[in-house]
Amino acid sequence: MKEIKNICCIGAGYVGGPTMAVIALKNPHIKVNIVDINKERIDDWNDEDLDLLPIYEPGLAEVVAQTRNKNLFFSTDVKKGIQEADMIFISVNTPTKTYGKGKGQAADLKYIELCARQIAEVATDDKIVVEKSTLPVRTAEALKSILSSTGNGVNFEILSNPEFLAEGTAIDDLMNPDRVLIGGDDTPTGQEAKDLLSGIYEAWVPKKQVLQTNVWSSELSKLTANAFLAQRISSINAMSALCEKTEADVDEIARAIGMDSRIGAKFLKSSVGFGGSCFQKDVLNLVYIAKSYGLDEVAEYWDQVIKLNDYQKRRFADNIIKNSYNTVSGKNIAFYGWAFKKETNDTRESAAIYVADHLLDEQANIVVYDPKVTAERIYADLEYLNTHSPEEIRERVKVVNDPYEAITGAHAIAVLTEWDEFINYDWEHIYKLVLKPASIFDGRNILEVGHLKKIGFSIKNIGK
Ligand code: NAD
Ligand code: UDX
Repeated sequence: MKEIKNICCIGAGYVGGPTMAVIALKNPHIKVNIVDINKERIDDWNDEDLDLLPIYEPGLAEVVAQTRNKNLFFSTDVKKGIQEADMIFISVNTPTKTYGKGKGQAADLKYIELCARQIAEVATDDKIVVEKSTLPVRTAEALKSILSSTGNGVNFEILSNPEFLAEGTAIDDLMNPDRVLIGGDDTPTGQEAKDLLSGIYEAWVPKKQVLQTNVWSSELSKLTANAFLAQRISSINAMSALCEKTEADVDEIARAIGMDSRIGAKFLKSSVGFGGSCFQKDVLNLVYIAKSYGLDEVAEYWDQVIKLNDYQKRRFADNIIKNSYNTVSGKNIAFYGWAFKKETNDTRESAAIYVADHLLDEQANIVVYDPKVTAERIYADLEYLNTHSPEEIRERVKVVNDPYEAITGAHAIAVLTEWDEFINYDWEHIYKLVLKPASIFDGRNILEVGHLKKIGFSIKNIGK
């Protein structure tokens, strides 16, 4: 069997960077080149100051420190990366389409197609091409068609190897995955390719956790996993609305049902709504795929997961308004957190963006503090929505680096991300700095309600 000595990963993002860093760490005999067209991102990955890596993930800097410029390299030379590689991972972004057919639902595969065309153009010897990006079922067919169109005698074996890491725990998830999934053809060359990729993971993952399937099952498993996870959050968030009407407590319900081993305790935390670059995009894509096969009931079923999530974000913003004597116009609302979850600087689809947008509609002033997100990112997130002018956004939204400055003179505090540090703030001091009546809207149910009530705060939780 051919030996894999050189890997190229196209796409140095949240998946490509951490995944390849761990593969390099665990396979010191393999040279791993991560290539990207974004020069600034590559420069950041190469920055001597590990605090300036483009992605914040606990443990990532340590892995990069051990591997970078030994057997892990970051470069903008995509062609060279492809030429040298025995195995090429495609880990580029596959966002929701913003134009044309499938706008707002289908995955935009233009970056994937560009990669395939570039591989076809540059490769002069046989390659294994691995889909690492999350892709619609049957994308491998399109890739195969592009790759085999050159007629230059180069053979490409296509594998699907979706990534299940979650941001904020990426390194831990990669080091101890529940499973690794590898889909490929059942032909002798397909089997050989699957075994070669399995071998790379088996450097640290127990063999029984490396699953091999056909390509289509692998592609569709990834969308299914994300849809099931997102559905759990929408399900518990639906119950949170009912709890608020009935004096039931959503966290008590989550605990009670989570102890049923058939349901399980994870992913039952009610919140202001899920965010992140994956759940919404992948569920919408599933809706689109189902519709395109004429499976309207299936499409509608999954679409409800998104509708409920939109409702939850809106409900949270409406609750702030309702409990602020029905107006937030000219009032200062302090946001604790902007990232879509703790331990990441990623803000893609963060609930905070949509809550802020709704409050801006009502002419609120917003002051944001997030331990990892930059002001430029926050302004860019709001400007991207195109609902308020850049001037209005900069006038109404202030971003500060000090959590106590954020709440000084605030009419209300809204917790949007579950950063641990928020729990341990000096809430007695905060009480003195905010306007009275002092209100907190905890969109993550992390703060200690009894303690805060004793200080004098009025606190509104999700599902209580
Ligand atoms: P990302 O946007 O962080 O990174 C993608 C990178 O690909 C960018 O740096 C971009 O410049 C680069 N790129 C795009 N086209 C290119 C080309 N033709 N040549 C070279 N570089 C190119 O995206 P991400 O979050 O890493 O996600 C990548 C894929 O992995 C997506 O399909 C996503 O759905 C999937 N995924 C993401 C996560 C996650 O937690 N972020 C988890 C599992 C799976
Ligand atoms: C998700 C999947 O978990 C991961 O397997 C996949 O590879 C990529 O998509 P990610 O989006 O990084 O990972 O984070 P995740 O932990 O799943 O959280 C997504 C969103 O759901 C966050 O906004 C989080 O705050 C929210 N969430 C999560 C809840 O509201 N309640 C929960 O119980 C869990």
